[in-house]
Amino acid sequence: MTSGISIQSDFPLRSHNTFGIAVNAHAYVCVSSVDTLLGIRNDAALSVLPRLVLGGGSNILFTRNFAGLVLHMCSKGIEIVSEDSDAVYVRAAAGENWHSFVQWTIGRGLGGLENLSLIPGSVGAAPIQNIGAYGVELKDCFHSLSAFDFENGEIFTLDKAACQFGYRDSVFKHRLRDRAVILDVTFALPKRWQPNLQYADVVQEMAARGLANPTAQEISEAVIAIRQRKLPDPGMIGNAGSFFKNPVIAAAQRDALLLRYPKLVSHAQPDGSVKLAAGWLIDQCGWKGKSIGQAGVYEKQALVLVNRGNATGQDIACLAQAIQADVQARFGVMLEPEPIFV
Ligand code: EPU
Repeated sequence: MTSGISIQSDFPLRSHNTFGIAVNAHAYVCVSSVDTLLGIRNDAALSVLPRLVLGGGSNILFTRNFAGLVLHMCSKGIEIVSEDSDAVYVRAAAGENWHSFVQWTIGRGLGGLENLSLIPGSVGAAPIQNIGAYGVELKDCFHSLSAFDFENGEIFTLDKAACQFGYRDSVFKHRLRDRAVILDVTFALPKRWQPNLQYADVVQEMAARGLANPTAQEISEAVIAIRQRKLPDPGMIGNAGSFFKNPVIAAAQRDALLLRYPKLVSHAQPDGSVKLAAGWLIDQCGWKGKSIGQAGVYEKQALVLVNRGNATGQDIACLAQAIQADVQARFGVMLEPEPIFV
């Protein structure tokens, strides 16, 4: 114990990262209130340690033991804070499990987050990479968040514009990286809810279920079924969802690629650029289902790398590099990893 804060040393992180990588943290603390963060900031020994904020550990690849202090966000609490004619505002603590939170909102008749059902991770981690799936991103229902600033020890709030959300991106991956700790997130859930059925997989699932006018609950159930079919359950096989972002390229480069690869999967972006399906590129290179040692490419989705048992983070990183090299050589496109490497 230091400054009344319960610190654990040589803490095993295997069950705290969904890849299931067996590494240790030099020091670990469960953060359930801002007082813990203030205590760490004011402690001479703790404040100088490198810090790593950990939520559900679902977007991280540990390549070595972490020689610093892991701040595991454990704060809990969900509440409706206000409403107006447009929306109901719901605030959730950073340590809440994302999927449980989505289910909480749906259970109270509040739609908006249903397409984001079953995404692993925590509420506090969700804004960092602006989680997205099936045509919806977190930013679509985001209102504001509060965070602790390790530089000055103050709590500040950010609205949507200040978060600078992009595709799997936000200010927390740039200017506020290693500085801010998200404490809670407030969502604006629309009163005039409309189903978001723009994604082909969801449309097909609705047709198969005979649902012409689905509720948020029914969309959530469909999304859960799609994810369970396509993506490995981290509780069964270690993974961090999509390992690479879908690359965004110029339309001219896509046109050149289409001449050689007429089946290239691409989606036009509002700014005229084009997003390619990284899973398709990797699949074309023959990687689906392949492994290097214990690090593998998931059989049903080439964009997902898996830990087949006892892979190290280095094993996964080596496999990722081999895939990047092949995709670069064949398509002239560099894939960028989605998880954070530590
Ligand atoms: N494809 C293949 N082979 C594969 C995988 C995909 O040909 O092995 C093709 C599919 O046939 C499809 C296209 O690639 O035409 C896109 O595949 P999919 O619909 O599975 O989506 P994705 O682009 O691979 C993205 C997100 C997922 C999200 C889904 C659904 C990224 C990096 N990934 O995957 O997010 O669940 O769309 O919206 O944007 C995550 O970020 O961890 C994640 C799982």
